Amino acid sequence: MSLTILFAASDANWAEYAAPLRTALAEAGIAASLTRDAAPETVDFIVYAPSSALQDFTPFTRCKAILSLWAGVERIVANPTLTQPLCRMVDPALTEGMVEWVVGHALRHHLGMDRHIVNPGHVWDPTCPPLARERPVAMLGMGELGTAAARALAALNFPVTGWSRSPKHIDGIPCLHGEDGLAKALSTAQIVVTLLPKTPQTENLLNARTLALLPQGAVILNPGRGALIDDDALLAALEQGHVGHATLDVFRLEPLPPDHPYWTHPRVTVTPHIAADTRAPSASRVIAENIRRGAAGEPLLNRVDRQRGY
Ligand SMILES: NC(=O)c1ccc[n+]([C@@H]2O[C@H](COP(=O)([O-])OP(=O)(O)OC[C@H]3O[C@@H](n4cnc5c(N)ncnc54)[C@H](OP(=O)(O)O)[C@@H]3O)[C@@H](O)[C@H]2O)c1
Repeated sequence: MSLTILFAASDANWAEYAAPLRTALAEAGIAASLTRDAAPETVDFIVYAPSSALQDFTPFTRCKAILSLWAGVERIVANPTLTQPLCRMVDPALTEGMVEWVVGHALRHHLGMDRHIVNPGHVWDPTCPPLARERPVAMLGMGELGTAAARALAALNFPVTGWSRSPKHIDGIPCLHGEDGLAKALSTAQIVVTLLPKTPQTENLLNARTLALLPQGAVILNPGRGALIDDDALLAALEQGHVGHATLDVFRLEPLPPDHPYWTHPRVTVTPHIAADTRAPSASRVIAENIRRGAAGEPLLNRVDRQRGY
């Protein structure tokens, strides 16, 4: 029997994904029609991105799962019409990209690269940076991406402390949870990386109170979500020099408006939500595997817990 798979995402997504998805489905031995238009009651799976016009999932009575092209699902998880299982994207290539972004930006600040890259006065300043082993890092969020980034930093000898909602045991990386755990992780962190989902519990997690827990001059890397940070509190902490630099990839409003103070702040680096992208060939294989599982009645991968919101 052939499955009907509705692709509900932007035109650009379709151009990128149509061929790799068809290849991945064929490789997984799945007979399917991949389409952008189908009668809702005939649809077996929906490949979805919030850029799609589809917002009402009620008529999709036969649909076994909504498979998100995005890792972050905050724009769909609270949709009241969604009763079907929702799976977020966990793409090995996306993880690879995130690890590279985090390690690259952590090393930039750790090594003080800016001093030598931008040195108009040709100042010969032979100050050596400390070793990574002397630069504590707090990784807020120890899921797919946070754990991979934490492991990569730990492999370079950064003393990484992880923080997550539930307790974790990871070799070589002490992990904390809860309010006290957050305070402990922040109190020594010279670099803080935020790889949390946006939920009501994580919104404004970095605020005036929690930023004040950081040692003077700490650096923040936020490739998670803009709403994790109270922007006014961060700008104030940067003004006071309490936070040394913030490298931000994600923002409450994207694209970041041209007049936003982050663009011109000398201690803020803006990257335009490029920390990690799903890559169509590998992401398509993940989707095909979930379609195979869903059709066979096997447990789906990367299911979102609607209650937790991620
Ligand atoms: N900038 C980009 O290009 C880009 C690309 C992809 C993803 N992202 C962002 O990265 C986020 C993380 O992705 P992921 O795949 O690593 O997600 P994930 O596997 O679901 O991991 C989320 C982590 O956050 C922790 N967490 C959630 N709520 C928490 C809370 N209230 N307090 C403490 N910890 C909490 C979870 O704790 P538990 O382990 O206890 O559940 C888990 O460790 C995504 O949600 C998305 O927003 C950004």
